[in-house]
Amino acid sequence: MPYLIAGNWKMNGTLASAEALAAELIATVRGAAAQAEVVLCPPAPLIPAVRAVTKGTAVAVGGQDCHTKEKGAHTGDVSPVLLAELGCRFVIVGHSERRADHGETDELVRAKAEAALKAGLTPIICVGETEAERERGETTTVIARQVTGSVPGGATAEKVVIAYEPVWAIGTGKTATTADIAAVHGQIATLFAAGRGGSDGLRILYGGSVKAANAKEILATNNVSGALVGGASLDAAEFSRIIESCPR
Ligand code: PGA
Repeated sequence: MPYLIAGNWKMNGTLASAEALAAELIATVRGAAAQAEVVLCPPAPLIPAVRAVTKGTAVAVGGQDCHTKEKGAHTGDVSPVLLAELGCRFVIVGHSERRADHGETDELVRAKAEAALKAGLTPIICVGETEAERERGETTTVIARQVTGSVPGGATAEKVVIAYEPVWAIGTGKTATTADIAAVHGQIATLFAAGRGGSDGLRILYGGSVKAANAKEILATNNVSGALVGGASLDAAEFSRIIESCPR
């Protein structure tokens, strides 16, 4: 599987700025895109506009969240089926900001991932410990609980992506050490393989203050097969340098 670099735009952008950023990204990543699969995850209302700009290019579009159901009385939620219809290939589920802001549990995240798979989307399932949990030495326990609880049991390695995002590293400028990243990614691969016979082909992304300056080292780390990039994905030059940092 190629490396995957996902840009999580979060709640940023206007219609005009999203179209401009997508166009600039396409122009800038043209060469770099051969090194990795690239997906942009704009706010839901901007998906059609970004998709219109990226259509026909190697750059994919994804959602930042989806509901567990295809349709129904769920005000403000986004159907995974609609995301697929709009041309999305991926959807982020269980981002720590959703777990914190909306009280999303592992059980809910797993149901969202299952709904995404059913709609033909690849879920990017996020896990990660808080600073307090890390300081208490609970990282391994938290990761085990989140991976076991959030990743659908029947999911095969090629159909899902797992993103390790230590909560304390998101938007803070702090990144985990490559030793810590390698340890957690190794644990995730082992947890995934248990009961499935292996983790070959599973992509495990690292996320949390990834930028051009640290991408090369992080992407070369054992068991790291891509990055989930927030802030730095809003800058076309910075984002393409991250893509170019994928090992060939
Ligand atoms: P960041 O966000 O790169 O701005 O730290 C990453 C994420 O939350 O996906």
